[in-house]
Amino acid sequence: MKVLIADKLSDRAVADLKSLGAEVVFEPGLTAEKLPEAIGDGEVLIVRSTKVTAQTISRGTNLSLIIRAGAGVNTIDLLEASLRGIHVANCPGKNADAVAELAVGLMIAADRRIADGTADLRNGVWNKKLYGKANGLRGRTLSIIGMGSIGRKTAEIARAMGMETAAWSRSLTPEKAEEWDVTYCATPEEAARMADVLSVHIAAGSDTKHFIGREILESLKEGAIFINTSRGEVVDTEVLKDVIRTRGIKAALDVYENEPAGGDGAFEDRELAEMITGTHHIGASTEQASDAIADEVVNIVRAYRETGKPLNLVNHQDKSAGVINLVIRHYNRVGVLAAVLNELRSAQINIEEMENSIFSGGKAAVCTLKLDSEPSAEVLERIRQGEHIIQAGVK
Ligand code: 3PG
Repeated sequence: MKVLIADKLSDRAVADLKSLGAEVVFEPGLTAEKLPEAIGDGEVLIVRSTKVTAQTISRGTNLSLIIRAGAGVNTIDLLEASLRGIHVANCPGKNADAVAELAVGLMIAADRRIADGTADLRNGVWNKKLYGKANGLRGRTLSIIGMGSIGRKTAEIARAMGMETAAWSRSLTPEKAEEWDVTYCATPEEAARMADVLSVHIAAGSDTKHFIGREILESLKEGAIFINTSRGEVVDTEVLKDVIRTRGIKAALDVYENEPAGGDGAFEDRELAEMITGTHHIGASTEQASDAIADEVVNIVRAYRETGKPLNLVNHQDKSAGVINLVIRHYNRVGVLAAVLNELRSAQINIEEMENSIFSGGKAAVCTLKLDSEPSAEVLERIRQGEHIIQAGVK
């Protein structure tokens, strides 16, 4: 198995991958532009923020698995990967502590104006009068939009600081909210209205582009703090600038629309930079998170090598179109299933999913096939009459 690593990954992870028997090509300096050429006959591609374009995917003639050494997969052309039957996996939750820590850090930095104060000190200016005004966070309400692992961690840290927590998330129910000790909000606007601090933790995708727009941002109280450590694209930046100007919103951001893809470059939106407290998309960039991510990358490759099934797949359909389960118990012999598949083909029945497992002793096996339509009584009978079939039926 040839593994191409096109971003930074710890020496330990590289060594672990080699000890799994993989041939590892480690090229952390590769860019999105160079990747189509570099992909060669690599079977597994491991990336962090380097973009994986449709061109890279189509040039990877041997490519079967792309691993995002992180959580967000918006840098990978998922559509192209799915069209070509290439698995895409990620490392969810592994950098949640790091991102949550930064979200809370930004909250405090925005309330105490730490960045502005530092800039003044560096210019030889002492201004306790100006920077001595802050709201303080204890007893204030932190509203969270997006209660995945990062949102939940952020709430947990905020509660330890004595903050009240409220949340809206697409799948959040009042029961879940109670379990997670947050006040349930029925809409994101309601969460924004309650917030002294609003923190965003949703994934980027075509359905979340500018999700945080005018309605949510204008629901914020005057002077509230707004934090984004998720993705720049989920916030309408022009509206954000507007509410910073008109409603005194204090924004602290780690991610930006059109931020540079690499580790360095120019930051174009100087107007925004003047208005906010900002970091450089470093939410996940701690040693603790890098180690946890690297371990998970190795786990994914190990599972793929041992079972053919990678962990944490993001581009598999949860539910296939298969509506009928055909269960076949059979003796473990060559050609038994081929004969079943032949019968289904003749009846123009499509198989959406298939799983075969063997009983102890290796004599018998059971195969479950998810079909797009029900086989007629005649087709079932022909399957049952097949050689080495013990039993066949629709469940
Ligand atoms: C993630 O999606 O895991 C984080 O945003 C980290 O992204 P990065 O690996 O590009 O720092």
